[in-house]
Amino acid sequence: MTDLTYSEEFQYSHKNPYHQRLEAFSQFVFRDSEAEQYRGKWNSDIFKKEAPLILEIGTGYGHFLRDYCRQNPEVNFVGLDYRFKRSFQLAKSLARDEIENYRYLRARGERIEFIFGESELDQLYYFFPDPWPKNPHKKKRLFQEGFIERAHRVLKPGARFYIKTDHRDYGAQMIRLAEESKLFDVELVSLDLHREHPDFWLNSYPTKFEKIFIAKNEPIIGLVLVNKK
Ligand SMILES: C[S@@+](CC[C@H](N)C(=O)[O-])C[C@H]1O[C@@H](n2cnc3c(N)ncnc32)[C@H](O)[C@@H]1O
Repeated sequence: MTDLTYSEEFQYSHKNPYHQRLEAFSQFVFRDSEAEQYRGKWNSDIFKKEAPLILEIGTGYGHFLRDYCRQNPEVNFVGLDYRFKRSFQLAKSLARDEIENYRYLRARGERIEFIFGESELDQLYYFFPDPWPKNPHKKKRLFQEGFIERAHRVLKPGARFYIKTDHRDYGAQMIRLAEESKLFDVELVSLDLHREHPDFWLNSYPTKFEKIFIAKNEPIIGLVLVNKK
Protein backbone atom coordinates (compact mmCIF):
# COMPACT_ATOMS: atom_id res chain seq x y z
CA MET A 1 0.00 0.00 0.00
CA THR A 2 1.34 3.45 -0.92
CA ASP A 3 2.05 5.78 1.96
CA LEU A 4 0.08 8.92 1.11
CA THR A 5 2.35 11.14 3.21
CA TYR A 6 4.88 10.84 0.39
CA SER A 7 2.52 12.30 -2.22
CA GLU A 8 2.02 15.91 -3.21
CA GLU A 9 -1.74 15.67 -2.57
CA PHE A 10 -1.29 14.64 1.07
CA GLN A 11 -3.13 16.91 3.54
CA TYR A 12 -2.11 17.10 7.17
CA SER A 13 -4.92 16.44 9.64
CA HIS A 14 -5.26 19.20 12.25
CA LYS A 15 -7.70 17.60 14.71
CA ASN A 16 -5.21 17.15 17.54
CA PRO A 17 -5.71 19.90 20.19
CA TYR A 18 -1.96 20.34 20.55
CA HIS A 19 -1.77 21.47 16.93
CA GLN A 20 -3.65 24.63 17.92
CA ARG A 21 -1.72 25.05 21.15
CA LEU A 22 1.58 25.01 19.26
CA GLU A 23 0.57 28.33 17.71
CA ALA A 24 1.67 30.02 20.95
CA PHE A 25 5.27 29.31 19.92
CA SER A 26 5.02 30.54 16.34
CA GLN A 27 8.24 32.56 16.73
CA PHE A 28 10.19 29.30 16.42
CA VAL A 29 7.67 26.47 15.75
CA PHE A 30 6.31 25.70 12.29
CA ARG A 31 3.44 23.33 11.84
CA ASP A 32 2.93 20.94 8.97
CA SER A 33 2.13 22.75 5.76
CA GLU A 34 3.36 26.11 7.17
CA ALA A 35 6.84 24.60 7.03
CA GLU A 36 6.35 23.51 3.43
CA GLN A 37 5.97 27.12 2.24
CA TYR A 38 9.65 27.65 2.98
CA ARG A 39 10.93 24.85 0.78
CA GLY A 40 14.30 25.97 -0.62
CA LYS A 41 14.23 29.18 1.47
CA TRP A 42 15.08 28.15 5.04
CA ASN A 43 18.32 30.08 5.26
CA SER A 44 17.18 33.17 3.37
CA ASP A 45 13.62 33.57 4.70
CA ILE A 46 13.60 31.90 8.11
CA PHE A 47 17.09 32.11 9.57
CA LYS A 48 17.97 35.15 7.43
CA LYS A 49 21.55 33.96 7.58
CA GLU A 50 23.67 31.84 5.21
CA ALA A 51 25.00 28.96 7.32
CA PRO A 52 25.12 25.17 7.20
CA LEU A 53 21.50 23.96 7.36
CA ILE A 54 21.01 20.87 9.51
CA LEU A 55 17.94 18.69 10.00
CA GLU A 56 17.21 16.24 12.82
CA ILE A 57 14.28 13.87 12.23
CA GLY A 58 12.60 12.57 15.41
CA THR A 59 13.87 15.27 17.78
CA GLY A 60 11.86 13.74 20.63
CA TYR A 61 12.78 15.43 23.91
CA GLY A 62 15.25 17.78 22.23
CA HIS A 63 18.51 16.66 23.86
CA PHE A 64 20.51 16.65 20.63
CA LEU A 65 18.93 19.85 19.33
CA ARG A 66 19.78 21.73 22.53
CA ASP A 67 23.30 20.42 23.03
CA TYR A 68 24.30 20.67 19.39
CA CYS A 69 22.88 24.18 18.91
CA ARG A 70 24.56 25.46 22.07
CA GLN A 71 27.92 24.12 21.01
CA ASN A 72 27.60 25.06 17.34
CA PRO A 73 26.05 28.53 17.28
CA GLU A 74 27.18 29.05 13.67
CA VAL A 75 24.71 26.49 12.19
CA ASN A 76 21.03 26.80 11.25
CA PHE A 77 19.33 23.80 12.86
CA VAL A 78 15.85 22.41 12.20
CA GLY A 79 14.37 19.81 14.59
CA LEU A 80 11.38 17.83 13.34
CA ASP A 81 8.99 15.45 15.10
CA TYR A 82 5.45 14.32 14.39
CA ARG A 83 4.11 13.73 17.91
CA PHE A 84 1.82 16.62 18.85
CA LYS A 85 1.92 16.53 22.64
CA ARG A 86 5.66 15.85 22.76
CA SER A 87 6.23 18.74 20.34
CA PHE A 88 4.16 21.02 22.56
CA GLN A 89 6.07 19.99 25.69
CA LEU A 90 9.39 20.47 23.95
CA ALA A 91 8.34 23.86 22.58
CA LYS A 92 7.33 24.96 26.11
CA SER A 93 10.73 24.07 27.50
CA LEU A 94 12.66 25.44 24.49
CA ALA A 95 10.87 28.78 24.90
CA ARG A 96 12.69 29.21 28.22
CA ASP A 97 16.12 28.65 26.61
CA GLU A 98 18.37 31.29 25.19
CA ILE A 99 19.53 29.34 22.14
CA GLU A 100 18.36 30.93 18.93
CA ASN A 101 19.89 29.09 15.99
CA TYR A 102 17.12 26.51 15.60
CA ARG A 103 13.55 26.16 14.42
CA TYR A 104 11.18 23.33 15.27
CA LEU A 105 8.77 21.60 12.90
CA ARG A 106 5.71 19.59 13.86
CA ALA A 107 5.74 17.56 10.69
CA ARG A 108 6.43 14.12 9.28
CA GLY A 109 9.88 12.94 8.23
CA GLU A 110 8.26 11.38 5.17
CA ARG A 111 7.69 14.93 3.89
CA ILE A 112 11.34 16.07 3.73
CA GLU A 113 11.17 16.54 0.00
CA PHE A 114 8.21 18.90 0.35
CA ILE A 115 9.84 20.78 3.23
CA PHE A 116 13.37 21.14 1.79
CA GLY A 117 14.53 21.87 -1.72
CA GLU A 118 17.09 20.07 -3.86
CA SER A 119 20.52 20.10 -2.14
CA GLU A 120 19.28 22.46 0.60
CA LEU A 121 20.56 20.46 3.59
CA ASP A 122 24.15 20.19 4.80
CA GLN A 123 23.56 17.38 7.30
CA LEU A 124 20.82 14.99 8.39
CA TYR A 125 20.44 13.27 11.78
CA TYR A 126 18.11 10.39 12.63
CA PHE A 127 18.54 9.01 16.15
CA PHE A 128 16.74 6.13 17.85
CA PRO A 129 13.81 6.08 15.46
CA ASP A 130 10.66 4.19 16.38
CA PRO A 131 11.55 0.61 15.36
CA TRP A 132 8.05 -0.73 14.58
CA PRO A 133 9.22 -4.24 15.57
CA LYS A 134 6.14 -6.28 14.57
CA ASN A 135 6.18 -7.65 11.03
CA PRO A 136 2.89 -6.05 9.87
CA HIS A 137 4.14 -2.64 11.12
CA LYS A 138 7.62 -2.70 9.58
CA LYS A 139 6.37 -0.82 6.54
CA LYS A 140 5.89 2.17 8.86
CA ARG A 141 9.65 2.46 9.35
CA LEU A 142 10.83 5.69 7.81
CA PHE A 143 14.15 4.44 6.44
CA GLN A 144 13.07 2.68 3.24
CA GLU A 145 14.27 2.92 -0.36
CA GLY A 146 11.92 5.83 -1.14
CA PHE A 147 13.16 7.76 1.88
CA ILE A 148 16.80 7.17 0.89
CA GLU A 149 16.03 8.72 -2.53
CA ARG A 150 14.41 11.74 -0.90
CA ALA A 151 17.27 12.19 1.56
CA HIS A 152 19.70 11.98 -1.39
CA ARG A 153 17.80 14.76 -3.19
CA VAL A 154 17.53 17.23 -0.28
CA LEU A 155 21.15 16.75 0.88
CA LYS A 156 24.05 18.56 -0.78
CA PRO A 157 26.74 16.58 -2.62
CA GLY A 158 29.08 15.04 -0.02
CA ALA A 159 26.67 15.86 2.85
CA ARG A 160 26.56 13.38 5.74
CA PHE A 161 23.57 11.48 7.10
CA TYR A 162 24.10 10.26 10.70
CA ILE A 163 22.05 7.43 12.19
CA LYS A 164 22.05 5.81 15.64
CA THR A 165 19.77 3.08 16.94
CA ASP A 166 19.67 0.43 19.64
CA HIS A 167 17.33 -1.73 17.57
CA ARG A 168 19.11 -4.65 15.91
CA ASP A 169 16.52 -5.50 13.32
CA TYR A 170 15.88 -1.92 12.18
CA GLY A 171 19.65 -1.28 12.40
CA ALA A 172 20.34 -4.30 10.16
CA GLN A 173 17.69 -3.10 7.70
CA MET A 174 19.25 0.38 7.53
CA ILE A 175 22.78 -1.02 7.10
CA ARG A 176 21.62 -3.38 4.32
CA LEU A 177 19.69 -0.69 2.44
CA ALA A 178 22.57 1.78 2.81
CA GLU A 179 25.14 -0.73 1.56
CA GLU A 180 22.94 -1.64 -1.41
CA SER A 181 22.19 1.98 -2.26
CA LYS A 182 23.99 3.67 -5.12
CA LEU A 183 23.02 7.07 -3.70
CA PHE A 184 25.21 7.07 -0.57
CA ASP A 185 28.65 5.81 0.42
CA VAL A 186 28.84 4.13 3.81
CA GLU A 187 31.59 5.98 5.68
CA LEU A 188 31.13 4.29 9.05
CA VAL A 189 29.15 1.31 10.25
CA SER A 190 29.38 -0.06 13.77
CA LEU A 191 27.29 -2.50 15.77
CA ASP A 192 28.78 -1.10 18.97
CA LEU A 193 29.61 2.52 18.35
CA HIS A 194 30.68 3.56 21.84
CA ARG A 195 33.07 0.65 22.35
CA GLU A 196 34.46 0.45 18.81
CA HIS A 197 34.76 4.20 18.25
CA PRO A 198 35.05 5.74 21.73
CA ASP A 199 36.40 9.03 20.34
CA PHE A 200 33.73 9.51 17.69
CA TRP A 201 32.51 13.10 18.10
CA LEU A 202 28.81 12.14 18.06
CA ASN A 203 29.24 10.04 21.24
CA SER A 204 29.49 13.26 23.20
CA TYR A 205 25.91 14.22 22.23
CA PRO A 206 23.87 11.39 23.80
CA THR A 207 20.14 11.67 23.25
CA LYS A 208 17.54 10.82 25.90
CA PHE A 209 17.05 7.33 24.46
CA GLU A 210 20.77 6.80 24.04
CA LYS A 211 21.38 7.51 27.74
CA ILE A 212 18.82 4.84 28.64
CA PHE A 213 20.55 2.20 26.49
CA ILE A 214 24.02 3.19 27.71
CA ALA A 215 22.82 2.79 31.32
CA LYS A 216 21.62 -0.73 30.43
CA ASN A 217 25.00 -1.44 28.79
CA GLU A 218 23.31 -2.11 25.46
CA PRO A 219 25.29 -1.54 22.26
CA ILE A 220 24.43 1.41 20.04
CA ILE A 221 24.46 0.86 16.29
CA GLY A 222 25.95 3.76 14.33
CA LEU A 223 25.89 4.52 10.63
CA VAL A 224 27.35 7.47 8.73
CA LEU A 225 26.42 7.90 5.07
CA VAL A 226 27.91 10.34 2.58
CA ASN A 227 25.72 11.65 -0.19
CA LYS A 228 26.93 10.64 -3.68
CA LYS A 229 25.81 13.34 -6.09
C1 LIG B 1 12.20 6.69 20.15
S1 LIG B 1 12.00 8.41 19.98
C2 LIG B 1 13.68 9.03 19.96
C3 LIG B 1 13.77 10.48 20.27
C4 LIG B 1 15.18 11.08 20.22
N1 LIG B 1 15.72 11.06 18.87
C5 LIG B 1 16.11 10.35 21.15
O1 LIG B 1 17.01 9.66 20.66
O2 LIG B 1 15.95 10.51 22.37
C6 LIG B 1 11.55 8.56 18.27
C7 LIG B 1 10.99 9.92 17.94
O3 LIG B 1 10.79 9.98 16.53
C8 LIG B 1 9.52 10.56 16.27
N2 LIG B 1 9.08 10.03 14.96
C9 LIG B 1 8.82 8.75 14.68
N3 LIG B 1 8.47 8.61 13.38
C10 LIG B 1 8.52 9.86 12.84
C11 LIG B 1 8.25 10.37 11.56
N4 LIG B 1 7.86 9.58 10.57
N5 LIG B 1 8.40 11.70 11.35
C12 LIG B 1 8.78 12.50 12.37
N6 LIG B 1 9.05 12.07 13.63
C13 LIG B 1 8.92 10.76 13.86
C14 LIG B 1 8.65 10.15 17.43
O4 LIG B 1 7.57 11.02 17.61
C15 LIG B 1 9.65 10.20 18.59
O5 LIG B 1 9.67 11.46 19.23
